[in-house]
Amino acid sequence: MKKKITVLPGDGIGPEVMKGALQVLEGVAARFGHEFQTTEKRFGGTAIDQDGKPLPDDTLETCKNSDAVLLGAVGGPKWDSQTVRPEQGLLALRKELNVFANLRPVTVFPGLENLSPLKSNRVKGADFVFVRELTGGIYFSEPKTRDEKHAVDTLSYTREEITRIIEKAYELARVRRKKVTSVDKANVLETSKLWREIVEETAKKYSDVETEHLLVDYAAMRMISSPSSFDVVVTENMFGDILSDEASVIPGSLGMMPSASISQKGPGLYEPIHGSAPDIAGSGKANPIGMILSTAMMLRHSFKLEKEAAAVELAVFETLQAGYRTQDIYDGTGNLVSTKEMVNQIHFRMIEDSTSA
Ligand code: NAD
Ligand code: IPM
Ligand code: MN
Repeated sequence: MKKKITVLPGDGIGPEVMKGALQVLEGVAARFGHEFQTTEKRFGGTAIDQDGKPLPDDTLETCKNSDAVLLGAVGGPKWDSQTVRPEQGLLALRKELNVFANLRPVTVFPGLENLSPLKSNRVKGADFVFVRELTGGIYFSEPKTRDEKHAVDTLSYTREEITRIIEKAYELARVRRKKVTSVDKANVLETSKLWREIVEETAKKYSDVETEHLLVDYAAMRMISSPSSFDVVVTENMFGDILSDEASVIPGSLGMMPSASISQKGPGLYEPIHGSAPDIAGSGKANPIGMILSTAMMLRHSFKLEKEAAAVELAVFETLQAGYRTQDIYDGTGNLVSTKEMVNQIHFRMIEDSTSA
């Protein structure tokens, strides 16, 4: 199979974890006989510095003309006080690609419960996925204004925007454990009232799927106290942003969390859920697993290469099982390694499995 991938390394640890993901992807290409043509483009802070804007036209064009987009992370203190921020480029890219559905899996690998700072018996068996609405809500709604004395953000959702993301969640639940948890703030927000109404309507069409509604504050608590009670969690943009970082403590670290952002048609966008981690950038401490698992999600969702995606996931699992740990998941036992060494170990196991297969 031949595919065109646009690569956006971005800022901070972005380029470090991207380098690792591309090494693993080369391993996939060699083992399974595919051709992945990668084109690297400037994006985020580095693009502001060189092109004056975070999403240069040429970068956007290349993304639109590819089969999938891989993204590291953007942002950092250097650009925090500027009027144009790297994060605006990310929001513009999501909007331009119309990737309204952001899938963020939360999986505790069997036998690796001790990676979590939470009690092992609590996180055991946790396996759920966020379906986060990504191109609407308070991130994008107008008016959005600010002057000296007053600032305004608006939270608005149309029936159409809500319906398509809820449908996505039910479709996904059907091929999983058939349970949808919808998270909202319907005791206060009008957008949430409409959201809940649409969930109820949609639930009727999917009578084989169990539906539950949770208010977001209680959902935040139950996610930590009873993580294995979830299957598909569907929620609006900002709730999904906050809850998914919180949920990263269930498998163990923000550095291990992947995501896939998909549209009805056109290229998907694959990025870890973490940011540019300026506090560890350049130190070799970044965990590359979130980026590598995002690449596996690209193989599965955009290219329908299930076997290849599973091979990457297995190599990650085996590397963790063998005791390799980056700083963020190191508890004094096992083998503390750098980003580069973690990537080498994962890459090595992919190749190894192919020779024993
Ligand atoms: P962050 O996710 O960058 O970091 C939070 C904490 O997690 C830090 O202590 C960091 O060291 C750690 N961490 C994150 N990824 C890690 C990894 N792979 N391995 C080991 N540890 C890791 O969040 P932040 O500090 O709030 O944000 C920093 C910048 O990143 C901000 O400019 C923010 O806007 C941006 N950001 C970008 C994205 C993105 O590009 N998709 C996502 C989130 C935040
Ligand atoms: C994420 C990030 C982004 C978001 C920021 C950087 C705009 O936190 O992908 O989770 O809020 O969506
Ligand atoms: Mn976030």
